[in-house]
Amino acid sequence: MASPTEVAAMRRALTFAARGPAGGANPQVGCVILDRAGGVVGEGWHRGAGTPHAEVDALARAAGAVRGGTAVVTLEPCTHTGRTGPCSQALIDAGIARVVVGASDPNPDAAGGASVLRAAGLDVEEHVLAEDAEALNRRWLHAVRTGRPFVTWKFAGTLDGRSAAADGSSRWITNAASRADVHARRAETGAVVVGTGTVLADDPHLTVRDADGRPVGRQPLRVVVGHTDIPAGARVLDNAAPTLHLRTRDPHEVLAALAAREVRHVWLEGGPTLAAAFLAAGAVDEVLAYVAPALLGAGASAVGDLGVRSIADVVRLDVTDVAVLDGDVRITAHPVLAPSGRHEKSTTTDAAAGTAAAPSTPPQVPAEVSA
Ligand SMILES: NC(=O)c1ccc[n+]([C@@H]2O[C@H](COP(=O)([O-])OP(=O)(O)OC[C@H]3O[C@@H](n4cnc5c(N)ncnc54)[C@H](OP(=O)(O)O)[C@@H]3O)[C@@H](O)[C@H]2O)c1
Repeated sequence: MASPTEVAAMRRALTFAARGPAGGANPQVGCVILDRAGGVVGEGWHRGAGTPHAEVDALARAAGAVRGGTAVVTLEPCTHTGRTGPCSQALIDAGIARVVVGASDPNPDAAGGASVLRAAGLDVEEHVLAEDAEALNRRWLHAVRTGRPFVTWKFAGTLDGRSAAADGSSRWITNAASRADVHARRAETGAVVVGTGTVLADDPHLTVRDADGRPVGRQPLRVVVGHTDIPAGARVLDNAAPTLHLRTRDPHEVLAALAAREVRHVWLEGGPTLAAAFLAAGAVDEVLAYVAPALLGAGASAVGDLGVRSIADVVRLDVTDVAVLDGDVRITAHPVLAPSGRHEKSTTTDAAAGTAAAPSTPPQVPAEVSA
Protein backbone atom coordinates (compact mmCIF):
# COMPACT_ATOMS: atom_id res chain seq x y z
CA MET A 1 0.00 0.00 0.00
CA ALA A 2 1.14 3.53 -0.71
CA SER A 3 2.04 5.63 2.34
CA PRO A 4 0.42 9.07 2.91
CA THR A 5 3.75 10.64 1.85
CA GLU A 6 3.66 8.70 -1.41
CA VAL A 7 0.01 9.62 -2.06
CA ALA A 8 0.86 13.30 -1.46
CA ALA A 9 3.82 12.93 -3.84
CA MET A 10 1.48 11.43 -6.46
CA ARG A 11 -0.84 14.45 -6.15
CA ARG A 12 2.17 16.68 -6.68
CA ALA A 13 3.34 14.58 -9.64
CA LEU A 14 -0.11 14.98 -11.21
CA THR A 15 0.16 18.76 -11.02
CA PHE A 16 3.58 18.57 -12.69
CA ALA A 17 2.19 16.25 -15.37
CA ALA A 18 -0.50 18.80 -16.22
CA ARG A 19 2.24 21.35 -17.04
CA GLY A 20 3.28 19.26 -20.03
CA PRO A 21 1.65 19.81 -23.42
CA ALA A 22 -1.74 18.18 -23.99
CA GLY A 23 -2.72 17.11 -27.49
CA GLY A 24 0.68 15.85 -28.61
CA ALA A 25 1.68 12.31 -29.55
CA ASN A 26 2.82 11.57 -25.98
CA PRO A 27 0.88 11.53 -22.68
CA GLN A 28 1.26 14.09 -19.90
CA VAL A 29 3.41 12.51 -17.18
CA GLY A 30 4.85 13.78 -13.90
CA CYS A 31 7.34 12.26 -11.46
CA VAL A 32 8.48 12.98 -7.90
CA ILE A 33 11.56 11.26 -6.41
CA LEU A 34 11.63 10.66 -2.66
CA ASP A 35 14.80 9.78 -0.75
CA ARG A 36 14.96 6.90 1.77
CA ALA A 37 13.48 9.14 4.45
CA GLY A 38 10.55 10.23 2.27
CA GLY A 39 11.91 13.69 1.52
CA VAL A 40 11.40 15.14 -1.98
CA VAL A 41 14.72 15.18 -3.86
CA GLY A 42 13.58 15.41 -7.47
CA GLU A 43 10.61 16.60 -9.52
CA GLY A 44 10.02 16.50 -13.24
CA TRP A 45 7.56 16.23 -16.08
CA HIS A 46 7.44 15.41 -19.76
CA ARG A 47 7.53 18.41 -22.09
CA GLY A 48 6.50 16.64 -25.29
CA ALA A 49 7.70 14.15 -27.90
CA GLY A 50 11.48 14.05 -28.28
CA THR A 51 12.17 15.52 -24.82
CA PRO A 52 13.13 13.49 -21.69
CA HIS A 53 10.38 11.48 -20.07
CA ALA A 54 9.20 12.58 -16.61
CA GLU A 55 11.28 10.00 -14.69
CA VAL A 56 14.49 10.93 -16.51
CA ASP A 57 13.70 14.63 -16.08
CA ALA A 58 13.13 14.18 -12.31
CA LEU A 59 16.34 12.13 -11.92
CA ALA A 60 18.32 14.75 -13.85
CA ARG A 61 17.01 17.52 -11.59
CA ALA A 62 17.45 15.53 -8.36
CA ALA A 63 19.24 17.45 -5.63
CA GLY A 64 19.91 14.71 -3.09
CA ALA A 65 20.43 10.96 -2.79
CA VAL A 66 18.11 9.01 -5.07
CA ARG A 67 19.77 5.60 -4.46
CA GLY A 68 17.44 3.50 -2.32
CA GLY A 69 14.67 6.05 -2.82
CA THR A 70 11.18 5.95 -4.33
CA ALA A 71 10.00 7.20 -7.72
CA VAL A 72 6.35 8.30 -7.76
CA VAL A 73 5.17 8.38 -11.40
CA THR A 74 1.70 9.23 -12.77
CA LEU A 75 2.01 6.70 -15.65
CA GLU A 76 3.69 3.28 -15.66
CA PRO A 77 7.35 3.77 -16.71
CA CYS A 78 7.92 2.74 -20.30
CA THR A 79 10.11 -0.13 -21.49
CA HIS A 80 10.76 0.92 -25.05
CA THR A 81 13.41 2.92 -26.80
CA GLY A 82 11.65 5.47 -28.97
CA ARG A 83 12.91 8.99 -29.42
CA THR A 84 14.35 8.60 -25.89
CA GLY A 85 15.52 5.56 -23.87
CA PRO A 86 13.36 3.35 -21.63
CA CYS A 87 12.46 4.92 -18.28
CA SER A 88 12.32 1.63 -16.39
CA GLN A 89 16.03 1.11 -17.08
CA ALA A 90 16.83 4.68 -16.05
CA LEU A 91 15.15 4.06 -12.66
CA ILE A 92 16.99 0.75 -12.23
CA ASP A 93 20.34 2.33 -13.17
CA ALA A 94 19.75 5.16 -10.67
CA GLY A 95 19.36 2.63 -7.85
CA ILE A 96 15.70 3.45 -7.13
CA ALA A 97 14.30 0.84 -4.71
CA ARG A 98 10.57 1.41 -5.01
CA VAL A 99 8.26 2.75 -7.73
CA VAL A 100 4.72 4.03 -7.09
CA VAL A 101 2.60 4.14 -10.26
CA GLY A 102 -0.66 5.97 -11.05
CA ALA A 103 -2.16 4.69 -14.33
CA SER A 104 -1.03 1.60 -16.24
CA ASP A 105 0.35 2.15 -19.74
CA PRO A 106 -1.78 0.33 -22.37
CA ASN A 107 0.66 1.24 -25.16
CA PRO A 108 1.78 -2.17 -26.50
CA ASP A 109 5.19 -0.76 -27.43
CA ALA A 110 5.84 0.75 -24.01
CA ALA A 111 3.85 -1.36 -21.51
CA GLY A 112 5.28 -3.87 -19.07
CA GLY A 113 7.36 -1.37 -17.13
CA ALA A 114 6.03 -2.62 -13.78
CA SER A 115 7.09 -6.22 -14.60
CA VAL A 116 10.52 -5.12 -15.77
CA LEU A 117 11.03 -3.18 -12.55
CA ARG A 118 9.86 -6.12 -10.38
CA ALA A 119 12.11 -8.51 -12.30
CA ALA A 120 15.03 -6.20 -11.47
CA GLY A 121 14.16 -6.47 -7.77
CA LEU A 122 12.36 -3.15 -7.28
CA ASP A 123 9.23 -2.92 -5.15
CA VAL A 124 6.30 -1.66 -7.29
CA GLU A 125 2.98 -0.26 -6.08
CA GLU A 126 0.42 0.30 -8.85
CA HIS A 127 -2.94 2.13 -9.23
CA VAL A 128 -2.25 4.91 -6.73
CA LEU A 129 -4.73 7.76 -7.42
CA ALA A 130 -5.34 5.81 -10.62
CA GLU A 131 -8.65 7.55 -11.42
CA ASP A 132 -7.01 10.97 -11.36
CA ALA A 133 -4.04 9.69 -13.35
CA GLU A 134 -6.37 8.13 -15.97
CA ALA A 135 -8.51 11.28 -16.16
CA LEU A 136 -5.47 13.41 -16.94
CA ASN A 137 -4.70 11.38 -20.07
CA ARG A 138 -8.14 10.01 -20.87
CA ARG A 139 -8.08 11.03 -24.54
CA TRP A 140 -4.54 9.73 -25.05
CA LEU A 141 -5.43 6.48 -23.27
CA HIS A 142 -8.52 6.11 -25.49
CA ALA A 143 -6.38 6.59 -28.61
CA VAL A 144 -3.79 4.04 -27.50
CA ARG A 145 -6.39 1.47 -26.43
CA THR A 146 -8.58 1.74 -29.54
CA GLY A 147 -5.95 2.55 -32.17
CA ARG A 148 -7.88 5.62 -33.31
CA PRO A 149 -7.84 9.22 -32.06
CA PHE A 150 -10.38 10.45 -29.52
CA VAL A 151 -12.85 12.70 -31.40
CA THR A 152 -14.39 15.86 -29.97
CA TRP A 153 -17.07 17.40 -32.18
CA LYS A 154 -17.39 21.10 -31.43
CA PHE A 155 -20.06 23.34 -32.85
CA ALA A 156 -21.51 26.76 -32.28
CA GLY A 157 -25.29 27.00 -32.54
CA THR A 158 -28.30 29.15 -31.77
CA LEU A 159 -31.11 28.21 -29.41
CA ASP A 160 -33.03 26.91 -32.42
CA GLY A 161 -30.11 24.65 -33.38
CA ARG A 162 -28.80 26.62 -36.39
CA SER A 163 -25.09 26.74 -37.19
CA ALA A 164 -25.33 29.31 -39.99
CA ALA A 165 -27.80 31.90 -41.29
CA ALA A 166 -29.82 31.35 -44.48
CA ASP A 167 -27.06 33.06 -46.55
CA GLY A 168 -24.42 30.66 -45.12
CA SER A 169 -22.76 33.22 -42.82
CA SER A 170 -21.94 32.02 -39.30
CA ARG A 171 -19.54 34.64 -37.89
CA TRP A 172 -20.12 35.03 -35.15
CA ILE A 173 -22.91 33.05 -33.57
CA THR A 174 -21.21 32.87 -30.18
CA ASN A 175 -19.58 35.53 -28.03
CA ALA A 176 -15.91 36.37 -27.43
CA ALA A 177 -15.74 34.25 -24.24
CA SER A 178 -16.91 31.16 -26.13
CA ARG A 179 -14.44 31.79 -28.94
CA ALA A 180 -11.56 32.22 -26.48
CA ASP A 181 -12.60 28.95 -24.83
CA VAL A 182 -12.55 27.24 -28.23
CA HIS A 183 -9.04 28.51 -28.98
CA ALA A 184 -7.75 27.31 -25.59
CA ARG A 185 -9.19 23.85 -26.21
CA ARG A 186 -8.08 23.70 -29.84
CA ALA A 187 -4.53 24.22 -28.57
CA GLU A 188 -4.78 20.94 -26.64
CA THR A 189 -5.62 18.79 -29.66
CA GLY A 190 -3.60 17.06 -32.33
CA ALA A 191 -5.67 18.00 -35.38
CA VAL A 192 -8.50 20.37 -36.30
CA VAL A 193 -10.75 18.77 -38.92
CA VAL A 194 -13.33 20.35 -41.27
CA GLY A 195 -15.04 19.42 -44.53
CA THR A 196 -14.36 21.19 -47.82
CA GLY A 197 -17.77 22.90 -47.45
CA THR A 198 -16.60 24.87 -44.43
CA VAL A 199 -13.38 25.92 -46.17
CA LEU A 200 -15.37 27.16 -49.18
CA ALA A 201 -18.05 28.91 -47.10
CA ASP A 202 -15.99 30.45 -44.30
CA ASP A 203 -12.33 30.48 -45.45
CA PRO A 204 -11.30 29.73 -41.84
CA HIS A 205 -7.73 29.89 -40.47
CA LEU A 206 -8.25 26.88 -38.14
CA THR A 207 -5.32 28.07 -36.05
CA VAL A 208 -4.98 28.77 -32.33
CA ARG A 209 -5.11 32.55 -31.98
CA ASP A 210 -5.05 35.15 -29.23
CA ALA A 211 -7.73 37.78 -28.61
CA ASP A 212 -6.11 39.98 -31.28
CA GLY A 213 -6.31 37.20 -33.87
CA ARG A 214 -2.57 36.39 -33.86
CA PRO A 215 -1.51 32.72 -33.99
CA VAL A 216 -0.05 31.66 -30.62
CA GLY A 217 1.83 28.63 -29.31
CA ARG A 218 1.73 25.11 -30.59
CA GLN A 219 -0.58 24.69 -33.60
CA PRO A 220 -2.49 21.47 -34.28
CA LEU A 221 -2.44 19.94 -37.75
CA ARG A 222 -5.18 21.44 -39.97
CA VAL A 223 -7.13 18.80 -41.89
CA VAL A 224 -9.62 19.34 -44.73
CA VAL A 225 -11.80 16.36 -45.72
CA GLY A 226 -13.49 15.92 -49.09
CA HIS A 227 -12.82 15.60 -52.81
CA THR A 228 -13.06 19.26 -53.79
CA ASP A 229 -9.79 21.17 -54.27
CA ILE A 230 -8.90 23.74 -51.65
CA PRO A 231 -8.88 27.12 -53.45
CA ALA A 232 -5.42 28.62 -53.90
CA GLY A 233 -5.09 31.47 -51.46
CA ALA A 234 -7.39 29.87 -48.88
CA ARG A 235 -6.38 30.90 -45.35
CA VAL A 236 -6.01 27.26 -44.36
CA LEU A 237 -3.05 27.09 -46.77
CA ASP A 238 -1.10 29.89 -45.08
CA ASN A 239 2.15 29.26 -43.20
CA ALA A 240 0.67 29.46 -39.70
CA ALA A 241 0.38 25.65 -39.35
CA PRO A 242 0.70 22.50 -41.46
CA THR A 243 -2.37 21.48 -43.48
CA LEU A 244 -3.40 18.08 -44.76
CA HIS A 245 -6.07 17.58 -47.44
CA LEU A 246 -7.62 14.10 -47.22
CA ARG A 247 -9.55 13.30 -50.40
CA THR A 248 -12.02 10.92 -48.85
CA ARG A 249 -15.51 11.01 -47.37
CA ASP A 250 -14.98 8.12 -44.96
CA PRO A 251 -14.48 9.16 -41.31
CA HIS A 252 -12.69 5.89 -40.55
CA GLU A 253 -10.17 6.60 -43.29
CA VAL A 254 -9.66 10.08 -41.88
CA LEU A 255 -9.01 8.68 -38.41
CA ALA A 256 -6.67 5.96 -39.75
CA ALA A 257 -4.64 8.60 -41.60
CA LEU A 258 -4.42 10.74 -38.47
CA ALA A 259 -3.60 7.79 -36.18
CA ALA A 260 -0.71 6.99 -38.55
CA ARG A 261 0.55 10.52 -37.86
CA GLU A 262 0.35 9.95 -34.08
CA VAL A 263 -2.65 12.26 -33.67
CA ARG A 264 -4.36 11.26 -30.40
CA HIS A 265 -7.11 13.89 -30.18
CA VAL A 266 -9.15 15.13 -33.13
CA TRP A 267 -11.06 18.40 -32.84
CA LEU A 268 -13.89 18.09 -35.38
CA GLU A 269 -15.17 21.57 -36.23
CA GLY A 270 -17.73 20.60 -38.82
CA GLY A 271 -19.54 21.61 -40.74
CA PRO A 272 -22.89 19.91 -40.44
CA THR A 273 -22.31 17.41 -43.26
CA LEU A 274 -18.98 16.11 -41.96
CA ALA A 275 -20.26 16.09 -38.37
CA ALA A 276 -23.23 13.96 -39.44
CA ALA A 277 -20.89 11.55 -41.23
CA PHE A 278 -18.72 11.13 -38.11
CA LEU A 279 -21.77 10.69 -35.86
CA ALA A 280 -23.36 8.16 -38.22
CA ALA A 281 -20.05 6.26 -38.31
CA GLY A 282 -19.93 6.07 -34.50
CA ALA A 283 -16.75 8.15 -34.60
CA VAL A 284 -17.67 10.94 -32.14
CA ASP A 285 -16.60 10.43 -28.52
CA GLU A 286 -17.46 13.84 -27.09
CA VAL A 287 -19.68 16.74 -28.10
CA LEU A 288 -18.93 20.34 -27.14
CA ALA A 289 -21.88 22.58 -27.99
CA TYR A 290 -21.52 26.34 -27.63
CA VAL A 291 -25.10 27.58 -27.63
CA ALA A 292 -25.81 31.29 -28.04
CA PRO A 293 -29.05 32.84 -26.73
CA ALA A 294 -30.03 33.80 -30.28
CA LEU A 295 -32.50 32.68 -32.93
CA LEU A 296 -32.07 32.43 -36.70
CA GLY A 297 -35.28 30.69 -37.74
CA ALA A 298 -33.67 29.54 -41.01
CA GLY A 299 -30.25 28.29 -42.14
CA ALA A 300 -28.27 25.08 -41.79
CA SER A 301 -28.79 23.07 -38.63
CA ALA A 302 -25.81 22.20 -36.46
CA VAL A 303 -25.73 18.66 -37.82
CA GLY A 304 -26.79 17.23 -41.18
CA ASP A 305 -29.07 14.29 -41.85
CA LEU A 306 -28.37 11.44 -39.44
CA GLY A 307 -30.96 9.17 -41.02
CA VAL A 308 -33.31 9.61 -38.06
CA ARG A 309 -36.87 9.33 -39.37
CA SER A 310 -38.71 8.70 -36.12
CA ILE A 311 -38.30 9.89 -32.55
CA ALA A 312 -37.64 6.27 -31.63
CA ASP A 313 -34.30 6.59 -33.44
CA VAL A 314 -33.22 9.84 -31.80
CA VAL A 315 -29.47 10.00 -31.01
CA ARG A 316 -29.24 10.57 -27.25
CA LEU A 317 -26.35 12.20 -25.43
CA ASP A 318 -25.21 12.06 -21.80
CA VAL A 319 -24.46 15.55 -20.50
CA THR A 320 -21.36 15.67 -18.28
CA ASP A 321 -20.93 19.42 -17.88
CA VAL A 322 -22.81 22.67 -18.39
CA ALA A 323 -21.05 26.04 -18.11
CA VAL A 324 -22.19 29.60 -18.76
CA LEU A 325 -19.66 31.69 -20.72
CA ASP A 326 -20.70 35.31 -20.50
CA GLY A 327 -24.25 34.45 -21.51
CA ASP A 328 -23.52 31.61 -23.94
CA VAL A 329 -23.95 28.06 -22.66
CA ARG A 330 -21.28 25.39 -23.20
CA ILE A 331 -22.60 21.84 -22.99
CA THR A 332 -20.24 18.87 -22.82
CA ALA A 333 -21.89 15.57 -23.69
CA HIS A 334 -21.14 12.06 -24.91
CA PRO A 335 -23.13 9.93 -27.34
CA VAL A 336 -24.92 7.21 -25.41
CA LEU A 337 -23.33 3.85 -26.07
CA ALA A 338 -25.33 0.66 -26.47
CA PRO A 339 -24.19 -2.34 -24.36
CA SER A 340 -22.20 -3.43 -27.41
CA GLY A 341 -20.10 -0.30 -27.03
CA ARG A 342 -21.50 1.21 -30.25
CA HIS A 343 -23.60 4.36 -30.42
CA GLU A 344 -27.30 3.77 -29.79
CA LYS A 345 -28.22 4.96 -33.28
CA SER A 346 -27.66 2.40 -36.02
CA THR A 347 -24.56 3.18 -38.10
CA THR A 348 -25.73 1.31 -41.19
CA THR A 349 -27.54 4.25 -42.77
CA ASP A 350 -26.10 5.94 -45.82
CA ALA A 351 -28.33 8.93 -45.28
CA ALA A 352 -25.41 10.95 -44.03
CA ALA A 353 -24.04 11.52 -47.49
CA GLY A 354 -22.70 8.13 -48.36
CA THR A 355 -21.21 7.09 -45.05
CA ALA A 356 -21.32 3.37 -44.43
CA ALA A 357 -21.13 1.31 -41.27
CA ALA A 358 -17.74 0.74 -39.69
CA PRO A 359 -15.79 -1.51 -42.04
CA SER A 360 -14.94 -5.00 -40.84
CA THR A 361 -11.41 -4.65 -42.18
CA PRO A 362 -9.10 -1.82 -41.16
CA PRO A 363 -9.64 1.23 -43.40
CA GLN A 364 -7.04 2.15 -45.95
CA VAL A 365 -5.23 5.39 -45.46
CA PRO A 366 -6.48 7.69 -48.25
CA ALA A 367 -4.37 9.62 -50.67
CA GLU A 368 -2.99 12.58 -48.77
CA VAL A 369 -1.98 15.95 -50.00
CA SER A 370 0.08 18.04 -47.64
CA ALA A 371 -0.57 21.67 -48.28
N1 LIG B 1 -21.51 27.00 -36.42
C1 LIG B 1 -20.55 26.11 -36.57
O1 LIG B 1 -20.04 25.56 -35.59
C2 LIG B 1 -20.07 25.80 -37.94
C3 LIG B 1 -18.90 25.05 -38.09
C4 LIG B 1 -18.48 24.74 -39.38
C5 LIG B 1 -19.24 25.15 -40.47
N2 LIG B 1 -20.36 25.88 -40.25
C6 LIG B 1 -21.18 26.33 -41.40
O2 LIG B 1 -21.51 25.16 -42.15
C7 LIG B 1 -21.71 25.52 -43.50
C8 LIG B 1 -20.97 24.53 -44.39
O3 LIG B 1 -21.63 23.29 -44.23
P1 LIG B 1 -21.16 21.98 -44.96
O4 LIG B 1 -22.03 20.88 -44.44
O5 LIG B 1 -21.10 22.21 -46.42
O6 LIG B 1 -19.66 21.85 -44.44
P2 LIG B 1 -18.69 20.62 -44.22
O7 LIG B 1 -19.36 19.52 -43.49
O8 LIG B 1 -17.46 21.21 -43.65
O9 LIG B 1 -18.32 20.14 -45.69
C9 LIG B 1 -19.15 19.34 -46.44
C10 LIG B 1 -18.34 18.74 -47.55
O10 LIG B 1 -17.39 17.83 -47.00
C11 LIG B 1 -17.14 16.79 -47.94
N3 LIG B 1 -17.37 15.54 -47.21
C12 LIG B 1 -16.45 14.95 -46.45
N4 LIG B 1 -16.93 13.82 -45.93
C13 LIG B 1 -18.20 13.71 -46.34
C14 LIG B 1 -19.20 12.74 -46.15
N5 LIG B 1 -19.01 11.64 -45.40
N6 LIG B 1 -20.39 12.93 -46.71
C15 LIG B 1 -20.61 14.03 -47.46
N7 LIG B 1 -19.69 14.96 -47.71
C16 LIG B 1 -18.48 14.80 -47.16
C17 LIG B 1 -18.09 17.01 -49.10
O11 LIG B 1 -17.35 17.71 -50.08
P3 LIG B 1 -16.59 17.05 -51.34
O12 LIG B 1 -17.57 17.15 -52.45
O13 LIG B 1 -15.42 17.94 -51.51
O14 LIG B 1 -16.22 15.65 -51.03
C18 LIG B 1 -19.13 17.94 -48.53
O15 LIG B 1 -19.72 18.77 -49.48
C19 LIG B 1 -21.20 26.95 -43.64
O16 LIG B 1 -22.31 27.81 -43.74
C20 LIG B 1 -20.45 27.21 -42.37
O17 LIG B 1 -20.53 28.54 -41.98
C21 LIG B 1 -20.80 26.21 -39.04
